[in-house]
Amino acid sequence: MKVYNIAIDGPSGAGKSTVAKLLAEKLGIMYLDTGALYRTVGLKAMRSGWHEDNDFVSGALASTDIKVKFENGVQRMYLDGEDVTEAIRLPGVSDYGSRFSALPCVRSALLGLQRKAAEENSSVLDGRDIGTCVLPDAEYKFFLTASVDNRAHRRYNELKAKGLDVNYDEIKADITARDERDINRMVSPLRKADDAVEINSDYMTAEEVAKRIMAFIKK
Ligand code: DC
Repeated sequence: MKVYNIAIDGPSGAGKSTVAKLLAEKLGIMYLDTGALYRTVGLKAMRSGWHEDNDFVSGALASTDIKVKFENGVQRMYLDGEDVTEAIRLPGVSDYGSRFSALPCVRSALLGLQRKAAEENSSVLDGRDIGTCVLPDAEYKFFLTASVDNRAHRRYNELKAKGLDVNYDEIKADITARDERDINRMVSPLRKADDAVEINSDYMTAEEVAKRIMAFIKK
């Protein structure tokens, strides 16, 4: 069967990953969480004390090994040979991921990995610039939004459920700062592709959003 891709973009906490996982399951295709790639760079930057300078990071990336592997269909991230799939979810890493994702050298280093994964298997990819930059010819494109408060509540509940000691106001401030950075960066900013279908998930469950997307795909 022909390879096809579904791009889901949107701001942090809009429910992209939950919806993307549901869709991948329903359709029997792969799910690529592209934020995990940027978080892996962020983790390396955090651990190694990198500063946000394109030339410096470009050199440092040359000796950094980032791999995406699918084990039993589930994405795992490797940094210099270490499985960092869980470590990249810890609070603090997202901020580094967002800051370093603004550098052109980081975006170009991760572009090939994303395109290769999408070329090899039909996939749902979620991120910020999948429909506009990574896969401008993706067969299906969606842009998921929700209010900052709803997104902060969702992220708070997610981290709380993992047993982490989190503070709602800090999470909301982190999301607001990331929105600002993701929307205003020079390269591949967060933006709805002209041909993407926008869905506001404020009053919808992830299951309802996935159903709506399935209805578009079937059409
Ligand atoms: O989706 P996430 O919260 O795991 O992403 C972490 C950061 O990575 C996010 O703040 C912005 C960046 N990112 C990006 O710039 N482009 C993508 N396609 C995915 C994520």
